[in-house]
Amino acid sequence: MKIKEIKEKIKIGIDKIGFAMPKYFLDIRDLALGRNENENKFVKGLMQSEMSITPVTEDIVSLGASAAEQILDEEDKKNVEMIIVGTESSIDQSKASAVFIHHLLDIQPFARSIEIKEACYGATAALSFAKNYIEKNENASVLVIASDIAKYGINTPGESTQGAGSIAMLIKKDPKIAVINDENVCQTRDIMDFWRPNYSDFPIVDGHFSTKQYLDCLTTTFDEYKKRYSQDLSNFSAFCFHLPFPKLGLKAINSLLEKNVEKNIKNIFLEKFHTSIVYGKRVGNIYTGSLYLSLLSSLENCDNLKAGDKIGMYSYGSGAVCEFFNLSLAEGFKNHLRNDRLNDFNNRKQLSIEEYEAMFFEKIILDKEGNCDFSNSKFIQESDNAFVLEKIENHKRIYKKIK
Ligand code: HMG
Repeated sequence: MKIKEIKEKIKIGIDKIGFAMPKYFLDIRDLALGRNENENKFVKGLMQSEMSITPVTEDIVSLGASAAEQILDEEDKKNVEMIIVGTESSIDQSKASAVFIHHLLDIQPFARSIEIKEACYGATAALSFAKNYIEKNENASVLVIASDIAKYGINTPGESTQGAGSIAMLIKKDPKIAVINDENVCQTRDIMDFWRPNYSDFPIVDGHFSTKQYLDCLTTTFDEYKKRYSQDLSNFSAFCFHLPFPKLGLKAINSLLEKNVEKNIKNIFLEKFHTSIVYGKRVGNIYTGSLYLSLLSSLENCDNLKAGDKIGMYSYGSGAVCEFFNLSLAEGFKNHLRNDRLNDFNNRKQLSIEEYEAMFFEKIILDKEGNCDFSNSKFIQESDNAFVLEKIENHKRIYKKIK
């Protein structure tokens, strides 16, 4: 037998995970009041409580670089051979956000930096590419960033499901948090449930159709997964879902638990599910990062997960591509996470509805030469993130390290 065949398969997965969000949030009850809606529609009907709001000085680059800066040390920066940013809120049609981030983080020069797109699914594809790369380059690390700002516009049905934030994951062999296992099933459907043409600032959304597709893609993909790998619910300790709003995640878990599941088993899964929405409830939809924020929320808030537990992961990107895959938790994973992250949420600044409308929808106005300077902006002084957008000079975005 060839050496290649008898060589034990290396374990590849998430070694470190970071999360960055803007300093500002809107209470969802204030949005309800401002839109003449019953607050329970958003609080109970969507299970949302707050949403993150970005000022003009934050974008997917500043948020993505800030999330990564939290987790990378100098050694990591020498070993990163690829940076992949999953996003659907890109700042440029040509240059990848990963190239800006590569520079800001001072990653060694001989790296590949790219951006990848398929709605909220992009970062999941990035993880798969990272895993394939490390299988062939065992000592390399790949930085996967999911960075988005979800805006639907004022007075639209999607307004209550907006949000902003970035997840950064360092992918390498023998990971300290979770191994990405090989079993997965993807599904592609050419549907128009949510899309954003180049000429539009906001997505066009067929909201109820999108939720039906999300759920139908989940059940059909999970059925195929069970068939292909001869597995069922008993193979999993918990599930994490893409969370456009937490109530859809609740519908998702219920759809997996429906058939012949004993009540006590159902309750165990539901209890764990509720730990997976703690952060998402306070941030809103962060598109590509949403599933991974749900994972982070579970890992940091659930006391009933242990090494070796298998987490079922459901990624969904409108348009649509979805994937069901799984992770196994690594020995000592809790030691590589935080137990005080809720302080970050509590330290944000709350906006009134008027402040939210002015801040979230502010357009950058350039002068004739393509300049705009934010260096004296209070948003930069107030930011808790490592990087901000300082100015635009001759149409070039200039970022600044502030922490
Ligand atoms: P809507 O149509 O205004 O709301 O917007 P609704 O009438 O469907 O009500 C929402 C829920 O609140 C319902 O619960 C109501 O019953 C309930 P449900 O019946 O569905 O369980 N409700 C109340 N509950 C308690 N007290 C009350 C009350 N009133 C109503 N008084 C919609 C909802 C999701 C359509 C809208 O927010 C939207 O369009 N959002 C954007 C699209 C979206 O998030 N789709 C999710 C699936 S697609 C996806 O995940 C991909 C995505 O992330 C993008 C990407 O991939 O890039 C979006």
